[in-house]
Amino acid sequence: MNQKVIIFDTTLRDGEQALQASLSINKKIQIARALERLGVDIIEVGFPISSPGDYNSIKMIAKEIKDSKICSLARCLKGDIDIAAKAMKKSLNFRIHLFLGTSALHIQSKLKKSFSEIVEMMLNSIKYAKKYTNDIEFSCEDAGRTSLNNLCYIVEKAIQAGANTINIPDTVGYTIPTQFKNIIQTLFEKVPNIHKSIISVHCHNDLGMAVGNSISAIEAGARQIEGTINGLGERAGNTALEEIIMALEIHKNRLGVMTQIKHKEIYRTSKIISHLCNTPIAINKSIVGKNAFSHSSGIHQDGVLKNRENYEILNPIKIGVKNSQLNLTSRSGRAAIKYRMKEMGYLEHDYNLDILYIDFLKLADKKGQIFDYDLEALAFINQQQVKKEYFKLEYFHIESKLSGLATASIVLLCGTQINIQKSTTSNGPVDALYHALNKATLYSIILKKFHLEANGEGKDALGKVDIVVKYKTRNFHGIGLATDIIEASAQALINVFNDIWKSCQVGKQLGKLNK
Ligand code: KIV
Ligand code: ZN
Repeated sequence: MNQKVIIFDTTLRDGEQALQASLSINKKIQIARALERLGVDIIEVGFPISSPGDYNSIKMIAKEIKDSKICSLARCLKGDIDIAAKAMKKSLNFRIHLFLGTSALHIQSKLKKSFSEIVEMMLNSIKYAKKYTNDIEFSCEDAGRTSLNNLCYIVEKAIQAGANTINIPDTVGYTIPTQFKNIIQTLFEKVPNIHKSIISVHCHNDLGMAVGNSISAIEAGARQIEGTINGLGERAGNTALEEIIMALEIHKNRLGVMTQIKHKEIYRTSKIISHLCNTPIAINKSIVGKNAFSHSSGIHQDGVLKNRENYEILNPIKIGVKNSQLNLTSRSGRAAIKYRMKEMGYLEHDYNLDILYIDFLKLADKKGQIFDYDLEALAFINQQQVKKEYFKLEYFHIESKLSGLATASIVLLCGTQINIQKSTTSNGPVDALYHALNKATLYSIILKKFHLEANGEGKDALGKVDIVVKYKTRNFHGIGLATDIIEASAQALINVFNDIWKSCQVGKQLGKLNK
C-alpha cells in the first residue's frame, strides 16, 4: 500500500504575508473553508503574534474548521507560544509550529547568538509548547544553507524534546533537487531517532525549483509537503500545492505514495484563492493556468482529436475543470439553482438560496443565459450581502460627457444613518463616484490600484473590479462584481470601507481589553 503524504497548506500564513493587501477575516474564513473542502490535512492559519487581525482571524477559523487540523506559527518564545495556543483553543485538535534559524548566517547575523544558544532556545520552547498540545512541528529555518552536521544535531535534539514533525525549509529557494535530496537522505542516514517524527519540507521558488525539490525530498523519505495554492508566498513564492499534488498523483506508483486531496476541488480552490487574494494566475501556469489544457499548434490539435493522451498527461476533468453550461435562464427554478450550486461543490451554508435566487433572476433578465462563472460571482456577492455590512449603497446617479466633468450623486447607508453626497468636480465617472463615497464616510484613503476586467466571456460578462486602498498604515483589497462597471467600482470601494470599519471596531475592542 502506498504511504500517505501529508499536505500542509500555508496560503493563509506564508502566502498571506506576501500579499499587497492583507486579507480580511471574512476572506480568510472563505479560504480556510475552501482548503478544508479540498481535503488538505493541515491548514497553517497565521502567525498570531504578528497582528491583532491575524490573532482574531485564527480565533474565528479555529471555531469553523473541523475536518482539517489547524496550525499557527510561533517563534521559539514563550509569548508567541502562549498567544498561538490561546488563538486556537476553540479547536479540538491543533498544532503549534515553532521555527528558528539554524544556518550560520541566520544564527550570527540575524539572531546574534551561538549555535548552542539556538539549541537551548529550541529545547525550551518545545518543552513549553507541549503544555498546550502534543502536536509540535519544529522548523529549522534556512535549513537549505545549514551545515549538515548542525542540521543532524538539532533535528535529533528536537525529536528527543518531543517535536513529532520536523520541517526542513529551503527558506531562500537556494538548493537544486540533487542537493536537497541529499539533505533529506543524510538526515535519514545520520539521525538515530528520525523515524519517531515525520519529515516535512517547505521549499521556496526563487530558482523555480520548489516543486522539483519537494519531489526529490519525497523520494528521500519526506512525508509532509508544505506549500500554498497557486504558489503564493514570500518573493517568488512557495511550492505550488496544486502542482505537487498532481505530480504525486500522476507518479504515485513510481513514488509509492498517495494523498487525501479531493482532486476535483483543485481548480475551484485555485480560482477562489486567486480572486480573494487579488493575485491573477499566469495563463501558462501549470495545472491551473487558462492555457494549461489548450492546444494551439495544428499538429497538436490533430493529435488530441485522435487521442487526448497524445498531448495531454492529465485530463482537466480530474481537477474539476468543467465546460461552461448554458442551461440556466430566467425560467429556471430555485431547485435548479440549488442543484447547479451543489454540482459546482457549494454547500448550502455557503450561500443564502433566497437572496441568490432573487439576484439570479435579475441577472438572467439582463443577460438571458447564466453561466457557471456568473452563478459563482453571484454567490460571492451573496456572501457579502448576507453579512449585514455597516455601509450599504442605496442609490447612485452618474453623468459623464465628452470633454466635460463627470458628476455623481449617491445615497449611502451608514449603519442606520442615511448620508447623501454629490460630487461635481471630477475627471471621470469612477473618480466622481469615489469622491462622493469618500465624502460620505470621511475615511482618508489613498487609491493604490484599480483594475477592471470581464468576469467570464462575451460582451455581457459581469464586470469585476479589484482595488487596493491604503488607509493609515494598512492596505485593503476590495472586490466588486456587477453587470454595470460603475456599480462594480462602487461595490469594490464599499467592500473596502466595510473592512476598514470592521478593523476599527476590532481596534476599539482590543483598546478596551488592554485598559
Ligand atoms: O520559509 C521558511 O523558512 C518559513 C518557516 C517559518 C517555516 O516560512
Ligand atoms: Zn516560507
